[in-house]
Amino acid sequence: MKSENITDVMVNVENLNVKFGDKQVVHDVSFQVKSGEIIGLFGISGAGKTTIIRVLTCQLNKKNWNGNVKVTDLNPAQSRNHPKILSNIGYVPQLEGLNLYYELSPMANVETFASTYGLKKKNAKEIAKELFSILDIPEDTWKKRLKKLSGGEKKRVSVAIGLIHQPKILFLDEPTTSILA
Ligand SMILES: Nc1ncnc2c1ncn2[C@@H]1O[C@H](COP(=O)(O)OP(=O)(O)OP(=O)(O)O)[C@@H](O)[C@H]1O
Ligand SMILES: [Mg+2]
Repeated sequence: MKSENITDVMVNVENLNVKFGDKQVVHDVSFQVKSGEIIGLFGISGAGKTTIIRVLTCQLNKKNWNGNVKVTDLNPAQSRNHPKILSNIGYVPQLEGLNLYYELSPMANVETFASTYGLKKKNAKEIAKELFSILDIPEDTWKKRLKKLSGGEKKRVSVAIGLIHQPKILFLDEPTTSILA
């Protein structure tokens, strides 16, 4: 696989407009993210931040939006591009409940998602341990049922899931919720 240069554009958004029925929620938004860059979207509640992430993560029907959008070098408007885009991106939703199994342990959660990316269990476990350590998830919780973890610990598990397949791009929707006071 080709390694990315700092000049490579990983996300390109030009004149993005999103409508739900008659209500326009994203107005002519443009930005670019190059390899190695971290950018943040700021705006009041309801400004459209999650909606923009939904466009970029192939979760919003093309009938709701228009504009020139590329993730890596692919257009999420075309459903045939979705598998390739999704294999190159990680996604941590605003409400971590959206990607967690509460009756399973953090380790089992991560292994479950890893298997959908074709990772072998042993490999997934090794990467998960490394991610859990980096994310400060206490080791005595790794095998507990997720519902017994604190809000911040659950959010960190959600971040580990977003990183398990070592994606080129990571989309974090409100990543500091319950983590930073
Ligand atoms: N599926 C939908 N159908 C209709 N309206 C929607 C839909 N999804 C979002 N909206 C509306 O679009 C607007 C933008 O919502 P969005 O979730 O993108 O905001 P946000 O900037 O992420 O807000 P927050 O900071 O509260 O998370 C809101 O007014 C919301 O009610
Ligand atoms: Mg939001």
